[in-house]
Amino acid sequence: MSRYSRITGTGSYLPPKRLTNADLVARLASSGVETSDEWIVERSGISARHFASDGVFCSDLALQACNKALEAAHRKPQDVDLIIVATSTPDMVFPSTACILQGKLGAHGGAAFDVQAVCSGFIYALTVADALIKTGSAKCALVVGAEIFSRILDFKDRGTCVLFGDGAGAVVLEASQTPGILSTDLHADGKYVDLLCVPGHVNGGEVQGVPLLQMAGQSVFKLAVGVLEDAARAVLAKADKTEIDIDWLIPHQANIRIMQSTAKKLQLPMDKVIVTVDQHGNTSAASIPLALDYGVRSGKVQAGQTLLLEGVGGGFTWGAVLLNL
Ligand code: UT7
Repeated sequence: MSRYSRITGTGSYLPPKRLTNADLVARLASSGVETSDEWIVERSGISARHFASDGVFCSDLALQACNKALEAAHRKPQDVDLIIVATSTPDMVFPSTACILQGKLGAHGGAAFDVQAVCSGFIYALTVADALIKTGSAKCALVVGAEIFSRILDFKDRGTCVLFGDGAGAVVLEASQTPGILSTDLHADGKYVDLLCVPGHVNGGEVQGVPLLQMAGQSVFKLAVGVLEDAARAVLAKADKTEIDIDWLIPHQANIRIMQSTAKKLQLPMDKVIVTVDQHGNTSAASIPLALDYGVRSGKVQAGQTLLLEGVGGGFTWGAVLLNL
């Protein structure tokens, strides 16, 4: 009998501190950095983002999202035999945020590890969890995207600091006899490392290099638009489907213009695209599960529908997952 993986519950969490563009404009002005609500909205579609308070860590955001996903799936932490956390802003150098999360959940003994693929992280994590479930290595997985990008932003660089936010999203992915995940497609190209990076590391107790996000925005934008279309077409072809079969496109939420461009290339109207970038900003690996959970809880995204999830980010990494909810 065939074995598939299927999402049985979603959850998400945003830290309570919400900054509108006006709040950020005022904060940046006090350090001589000039920006405006008009520029941020026009160039990115972002109006607000959430920032975690000091003392709150990635695993704390992940925990809240996981508790909601488990509740939606009618599962307990003890049912979970695999935890994968996609993050680029882990609590510590090691152990993994997934292990820290496992301890906080009180779910002992299953496998737990992090995946680091920046903004494509959730797509990578979902693909790995799907494969582990299909091969029988796991039955009930928590797949999480969680980030505190506010900690790695350069608030002197107006080209990046206005774009990102913090948050977490999670899904429970379970073994099933009917297909949930239909096809997956992952890629990376390491020749683009410098386009989007945090080029710092720890050596002898000191941070060396620049531990803050740097991005060549326009180059990333152009690459993103091309590879997202390729990944979308690849998962559709692998599952023997076409654009017409897509009920919802749930893309990485980096920039409304990138989403509009992808939708146009796939001939999808924007009312088939879940958009949260306006309220969340770019939450990197958390953005897709946050958008998915928003879609589900708002009643837009419903059981039985076909969803195309896709992400792109530092590395350069990109990929897509096509699934039936
Ligand atoms: O999550 C991973 C994937 N990440 C992405 O997909 C992000 C991709 N890139 C983008 O979304 C866009 O490139 C940005 C939103 C980052 C920038 O938009 P853009 O249309 O590419 O603007 P730009 O970088 O070409 O900058 C245009 C102008 C520049 O001024 P000059 O040189 O034309 O005088 C910038 O200095 O806008 C200026 N600018 C700003 N002005 C006001 C840059 N940032 C700001 C700002 N406020 N915050």
